[in-house]
Amino acid sequence: MLKDELSQILDEASAEIKSQSANLLDFLEQIRIKYLGKKGKLTDILKKLGTLSAEERPAIGAFANEIKTKIEELIADKQKELSNANFTKKLAEEKIDITLPAKQREVGKRHPISQIILELEDIFIGMGFDIGRGPEIEYTYYNFDALNTPKNHPARDIQDTFYIKRDGEEIREDDIVLRTQTSSVQIRYMENNNKPPIRMIAPGRTARVDFDSTHSPIFHQIEGLVVDKNIMLIDLKETLEAVFKSLFGEDTEIRLRPHYFPFTEPSVEVDYKCFRCGGSDDSCPLCKGEGWIEMLGAGMVHPKVLAGCGIDPMVYTGFAFGMGLDRLAMMKYSIDDIRNLFENDIRFLRQF
Ligand code: PHE
Repeated sequence: MLKDELSQILDEASAEIKSQSANLLDFLEQIRIKYLGKKGKLTDILKKLGTLSAEERPAIGAFANEIKTKIEELIADKQKELSNANFTKKLAEEKIDITLPAKQREVGKRHPISQIILELEDIFIGMGFDIGRGPEIEYTYYNFDALNTPKNHPARDIQDTFYIKRDGEEIREDDIVLRTQTSSVQIRYMENNNKPPIRMIAPGRTARVDFDSTHSPIFHQIEGLVVDKNIMLIDLKETLEAVFKSLFGEDTEIRLRPHYFPFTEPSVEVDYKCFRCGGSDDSCPLCKGEGWIEMLGAGMVHPKVLAGCGIDPMVYTGFAFGMGLDRLAMMKYSIDDIRNLFENDIRFLRQF
């Protein structure tokens, strides 16, 4: 009898749903397929309805539907029970103990050099400067030649400059260096189709063969370049004075001394008045009794440099400067050994 078969199916299904192994949601799904799926046991029987007589069919059909609904309910109930159980289990396992002390997170700090760079960028951007960038591994062309520093110049000596050997090279082909100065960015900036008026600074990392308490083989500079009509030495002085006043206060004084650089003419070195003693202390540890502290090199851009970058030196003039940032940071934060800046000792760096 179909009716008996149907009841039997309900018993079977219900036993399976309640069984131990039905404690898994996907096992439950297998059961659903087994009974109610396209090839399921119940479906098979429904297919046989056609063999019944017209009187029998409605009653058995209704009964079959009842069984189907019951099985569906059983499965739904079990599903609910299972996900409730999962939830309760999760709750128990993931209990949060709000009485535990919080994890200590250390707050990071900017490196003193980064702080100086950001501060200077702010000052220069306020004066309408653009920020230029160039690679730290540089062609000698940009680092030297284009800056009017030919092959025989002492700055190019292997004692002073880190040359890079290319893979598989036997003999040093000395055309790639760790840049010794950010001045290379002057050339790259002008070559890069930036036409006058130019106002550009370029902070970055530089390298020279040097190592003691005031020299590090890796150090930092900020370059400045201004090119326009009628730029004069006084523009350089005024600009630098404005910068140092923002850095160290309104009382800051600077002075220019004659100097030599291949890529500027005339060239100067810029000192600023010792803010510790103002020149009144012969044994001042900061200025060594000089009263002035050497800060940077600068000058009027050499006509050859401008011409090499496609800018007519008969029409345009410019000034450039390059300042060491490590020394500046040391001064500003009273750091006595430059190597502290590169050792990455958190206890040291945290202080600034
Ligand atoms: N590049 C020079 C140096 O490193 C400084 C400088 C920059 C001088 C620009 C003149 C103009 O010593």
